[in-house]
Amino acid sequence: MNELDSELIRQKLLNEGYIEVENEKNAEIILINTCSVRKKAEEKAIHYSREMKNKKKTVVMLGCLAQHKREELLKIAKADIVIGTKSYEKIIDILLDFERKQTKRAICEDLGIFQLKSRKVKEGEFSAYVNIQHGCDNFCTFCVVPYTRGREVSRKASDILEEIKQLEEQGIVEIILLGQNVDSYFDGKYDFSDLLKLIEDETKYIRRIKFTSPNPRDITMKVIKTIAQSEKIVRWIHLPLQAGSNKILKRMNRGYTKEEYIYQALTIRDIIKDVSITTDIIVGFPSETEEDFEETIDVVRTVKYDGAYMFKYSPREGTPASLFKEQIDNETKGRRLRKLIDEVNSVISERRKLMINKEYEVLVESYNSKDLGYSLGKTFNNISVLIKGFFKPGTFLKGIVKDIKGHTPIIEIRN
Ligand code: 5AD
Ligand code: SF4
Repeated sequence: MNELDSELIRQKLLNEGYIEVENEKNAEIILINTCSVRKKAEEKAIHYSREMKNKKKTVVMLGCLAQHKREELLKIAKADIVIGTKSYEKIIDILLDFERKQTKRAICEDLGIFQLKSRKVKEGEFSAYVNIQHGCDNFCTFCVVPYTRGREVSRKASDILEEIKQLEEQGIVEIILLGQNVDSYFDGKYDFSDLLKLIEDETKYIRRIKFTSPNPRDITMKVIKTIAQSEKIVRWIHLPLQAGSNKILKRMNRGYTKEEYIYQALTIRDIIKDVSITTDIIVGFPSETEEDFEETIDVVRTVKYDGAYMFKYSPREGTPASLFKEQIDNETKGRRLRKLIDEVNSVISERRKLMINKEYEVLVESYNSKDLGYSLGKTFNNISVLIKGFFKPGTFLKGIVKDIKGHTPIIEIRN
């Protein structure tokens, strides 16, 4: 989401005559788009801001940390301007105002959803993010997003479709729909599965539609079937687990049980042929015992993920869980994280082996600088692969998996 916001802001500034420079040394203004999800991200952003201020740059901080800390960031990050997640519409006025008056300030007004009238695609780009929804109403107790991105709002399907059509006319063949909780998308007329169908039917050049993320408690059979029947919707579902123990899930306010989650995941595997399932997992949530943690491992072994992002719980200011007693010490979190990573690696290896000698359609994404003689791409079920030979990013190829290197399948193109 931040990547997309940065891109939209970049385009807005370029439209107004600002110039982007390759090297930060030559910049007068540095824009830092920040994340608040975990402490490390916050610390990095603050450190970078102070470093840029020492180099006498004008520093503008945007994003979740900006929205959350507001005026405080002017001090702790030494920033000149702080702009919250809903005030990007005004960015040009704010910059001009600073240029004239040189007064530091934080602007965190709700000016609605930030969107450009027309989006321009960079030379050679073939994939683009598209926002379908902003904010989140779920209030998981560990998560800062509802406080930094505000209440959940769905963009109108017609606006989304128009943006996608603009993108495909400029060479985009893959879109990635973004929302915190895409399954509760509703614009008054279209629900999420209607939106997916609309995009599938109304686009000419888009060949892949991806989305992230659904919430396990809201994903519907209608959506699962829509994906199963589609030739454009990528066979990949990111289904954040967070934890396997029912006690912890309840304290996280996730709204599903371990059993419901497993049922969802196995139904998805059953109905969508060749689907890949990835997840997010947090270890060391307050009061997590060894037994609770083992429940997480149990889900990993049952669902057999194709990929996972794994985190130590990080207390976020203003969230309920940060005030829970029984916080877990860092050493225990570290030990659990290492064990989890080992378990996840082992199920990923198991899943990857099933790919050997099978044929896949691959979208080439880049040349590979590490393994010379290979290109990098993704299958229709969103697995990263290496392809023997040099191929232009943005092209589609078909090939057979001949080997697996680490977790990466090696594809040979069929001639
Ligand atoms: N601590 C650790 N991980 C977190 N996430 C969100 N909030 C926290 C937190 N306080 C993780 C969740 C979420 C992903 C984007 O970041 O797993 O799905
Ligand atoms: Fe955060 Fe939960 Fe909303 Fe995801 S669903 S953004 S974890 S509150």
